[in-house]
Amino acid sequence: MSDITHEFESRLSRPVGLKLPEFQRNERLFHVILPHQFTQQSLNRLGASADKIRKLSTSKEGADALRCLLSHKSAMFYFTQASTRTFLSLRSACKRLGMSTEEIRDPSLSSEVKGESEYDSIRMFSSYFDLIVMRTKKANLAECCAYLMNDLLASGQPGVPVINGGSGADQHPTQALLDIYTLQRAFAFRSPRDSSQWTLFDSLHKKHPDLRKGLDGKTYVFSGDIGRGRTVRSLAYLLAYNKNVKMRFVAPNHEKLRLSRDVKEYLRNQDIEVSEHSDLEEVIESADALYMTRFQNEHNKAEDSAMLSEASLKAIRLTPQLVEKMKEYAVILHPFPRNKELPGEIDLNPRARYFEQAVNGMWIRAALLAHIFDVETQVNEIYNAFAKQVHDYNESVL
Ligand code: NCD
Repeated sequence: MSDITHEFESRLSRPVGLKLPEFQRNERLFHVILPHQFTQQSLNRLGASADKIRKLSTSKEGADALRCLLSHKSAMFYFTQASTRTFLSLRSACKRLGMSTEEIRDPSLSSEVKGESEYDSIRMFSSYFDLIVMRTKKANLAECCAYLMNDLLASGQPGVPVINGGSGADQHPTQALLDIYTLQRAFAFRSPRDSSQWTLFDSLHKKHPDLRKGLDGKTYVFSGDIGRGRTVRSLAYLLAYNKNVKMRFVAPNHEKLRLSRDVKEYLRNQDIEVSEHSDLEEVIESADALYMTRFQNEHNKAEDSAMLSEASLKAIRLTPQLVEKMKEYAVILHPFPRNKELPGEIDLNPRARYFEQAVNGMWIRAALLAHIFDVETQVNEIYNAFAKQVHDYNESVL
């Protein structure tokens, strides 16, 4: 039983709709494997819960109360593919709710080096821990582990939730979650200066009468390695829930780098207006949100080295000059790590929200954990009990 993905091949090849119920327990998310598991309603609920957790964390009493919620739970981080933000923010999210964590980041230091199968390793984790969070190069490994856990549970053995922290070039559901949360906050158009006399939204609305709060009716531009970037795939699925959105995908004109057929088909079936481009300048002025991504060079095969000319790469990069052409309220996101596509000179521009985006990841992932372990009601109760103390914090400055 060397490769777990063979074991579950027939389940992996089913349509998504058949899989989703298997990732749920008692009408809650249990495993988090695919972005399709989130609904518009659950995205709003998780966003609201994340706002409460971040506000509570500003006081010692609030932070201490949150840490009691899951102090009886533990998580195993099996991250054999490189990660900084996903690893740290998920681990910090666990700690904010009191969970203890352990990790394997280098399989050469685990028994896999002695020939132990992933199957045996994962099964072992489920007897020691209450949650497995994983990132690996293998596209379907997290999904297979979720099936393994379900089979164990069905036979009366320990089986725990699995969170996919990024699977191959395939999906990254919790990144999409934090991207949506960042957009929810950005398109609420709040400012620390908001008062009963002046709000940011009202002053923007005077200049841009068509502007509406929220994610509906916006134009989302993605630029970079569209074909191989798992964050783009996952986010595009979730953005499609919104009404009247347009999506523009900018990538060098190469089959591997352009929007893949399955995502395109999905978006068209959802009546999303999709267009493809190879020059960011063509669409920069239309963007309400610009999602930049790096080139996924680690997925290059030997024959791919010639696929990118310097000119085609330059055409998908953001520059300070292009930023000046953007709408004044537009936002720039990037899942990070960044390379040349997003120069540091842009970082202090008010449209640049990518550092804030990374911070949002910790809060929304804490909200996700609170959901999985069914302590959302307790978060609300603690929040209401502390409401007086947190009342003075303006949401937009947190
Ligand atoms: C991304 C990832 O690993 O997919 N980063 C992240 O999780 N924040 C993006 C990337 O690697 O380009």
